[in-house]
Amino acid sequence: MIKPVTWHLFALHLNELEFNAEQLAEIKIAGKQLCIARVGDKAFACAAKCPHAAMSLVSGYVNVQNQIVCPLHRYKFSLENGRNVSGEGYFLKTYPVEEREDGWYVGV
Ligand code: FES
Repeated sequence: MIKPVTWHLFALHLNELEFNAEQLAEIKIAGKQLCIARVGDKAFACAAKCPHAAMSLVSGYVNVQNQIVCPLHRYKFSLENGRNVSGEGYFLKTYPVEEREDGWYVGV
């Protein structure tokens, strides 16, 4: 059974978050540690740790195909669906993000 998503406000404006030079930031929400990626005027959310060997993804980067690249072994994951696009067979948990009138929400 698919668990229903609960939406959580995580920022009124994206620039409240402490993005690093790669436009990645880590937040804790609903007991989970998430990595937020800012890509232009959009944001994506995924688990903070790589599913391969638990490296912190906030120290990776996002390539031009909207894939987050893990800094340790360079596995790549789609920020849209978590697919391990470099083909190692892992899956990165992703979370939906919505910009609403009153701020930015993530569905956990
Ligand atoms: S820990 Fe991320 S690719 Fe190995």
